[in-house]
Amino acid sequence: MKRLIEAADIQSKVSELGRRIADEYRGRPLTVIGVLTGGVVLVSDLIRSIDLPLRVGMIHASSYRGKATSPGDITLDVELLPDIRDRHVLVVDDIFDTGRTLAAVIDHIRTANPCSVRGAVLLWKERRREIDWEPHYFGFKIPDVFVVGYGLDYNDEHRSLPYVAALEEGDF
Ligand code: IMP
Ligand code: MG
Repeated sequence: MKRLIEAADIQSKVSELGRRIADEYRGRPLTVIGVLTGGVVLVSDLIRSIDLPLRVGMIHASSYRGKATSPGDITLDVELLPDIRDRHVLVVDDIFDTGRTLAAVIDHIRTANPCSVRGAVLLWKERRREIDWEPHYFGFKIPDVFVVGYGLDYNDEHRSLPYVAALEEGDF
């Protein structure tokens, strides 16, 4: 594996995002929704960097199956989603790749009548976008390489690494 983004750089970027989000949502009822499973690391760091009263919820989205590294159909499980009517919603995921996962989550959230919906991701593979929507907050733009760590997995492993690394030929 080749290290792409060091843990300290992620932490300072997340703090910066948290300060920006706090400034922009001050005085408004905010609900932060983490996208399971990959968004769990960013959402837990980010909510502690947002110095505002807020609510936290989760939604489960899956697109990659097992070892596969290309996106398939997206399945949503909305069992853990709180009531978001009249609240400002910030959806937090690990990465914006084709954008299909976040688009599916956001389409669903909109049906529950929130005041507003924005997206936040740690990583953005800009050249892969397939939908007409982009995340409002992002940490780092990266090239089209397969990465793990800080929530991102390969075959459900490596999510707990505090840094982001790119998998190389022999790693798959
Ligand atoms: P999208 O729907 O194509 O934007 O893909 C988003 C989801 O695919 C993310 O939530 C990740 O779970 C997964 N994904 C996309 N790229 C990578 C990667 O490089 N490593 C690990 N998972 C990825
Ligand atoms: Mg994911």
